[in-house]
Amino acid sequence: MNLKEVVGKKAVDYVKDGMIVGLGTGSTVFYFVHALADRVKEGLNVEMVSTSIQTVELAKSLGLSIKELEEIDHIDLAVDGVDEIDKDFNAIKGGGAALFREKIVADIAREVIWIYDESKDVEKLGNFNLPVEILPFGYSHTIRKMEEVGLKPVLRLKDGATLITDNNNYIVDLHLGYGFDIKAVKEKLESIVGVVEHGLFLNMCKLCIKGTEQGAVIIENPNN
Ligand code: 5RP
Repeated sequence: MNLKEVVGKKAVDYVKDGMIVGLGTGSTVFYFVHALADRVKEGLNVEMVSTSIQTVELAKSLGLSIKELEEIDHIDLAVDGVDEIDKDFNAIKGGGAALFREKIVADIAREVIWIYDESKDVEKLGNFNLPVEILPFGYSHTIRKMEEVGLKPVLRLKDGATLITDNNNYIVDLHLGYGFDIKAVKEKLESIVGVVEHGLFLNMCKLCIKGTEQGAVIIENPNN
């Protein structure tokens, strides 16, 4: 069973006629966008915004039209993937380098649903390195400041060159290790000039759809 497909398809049940929907990024969202495109072909009427150029291209290839954020006044529902999620609904995102736009869309959205397979479900965050988007201007100094406070940053490369995000910024991955102190890391990152946004998404979702071999499991967040 393809668990990413299971949850991607399930998430479409939460999309209602007339909604403005935020489309996340990644290989799980890929299935959500496909399933949504099928529903739109059947007559579902929705407007959509995207968290990445990759998802815009996917949506357009399926005949969906994507609005700019400035063209809409709210987002009803955002559906996105995660790289890791703990029991307190704290997640790491940004494996696909789209964390900044993903966080903006999640922050605007009235409701956020996260979709993932059970391998992303962890007791504590940290086996996945924490992505952080930083400005190219002065980036070596931003990285040095991260090193000075013990954040163990590694500049992300793609095909041997520095990865450039959709916002023309860089990504560094912090090798923090399992069970790092989320609050302390967040505070350190938010105090470093040059950090654009980090991939800690703390208690931002209303609902999770976890893919298991038994099917999609719905987990409501009581604190959101
Ligand atoms: C991209 C993300 C993705 O949501 C995250 O990496 C999960 O991706 P996938 O569904 O491919 O495992 O944060 O920046």
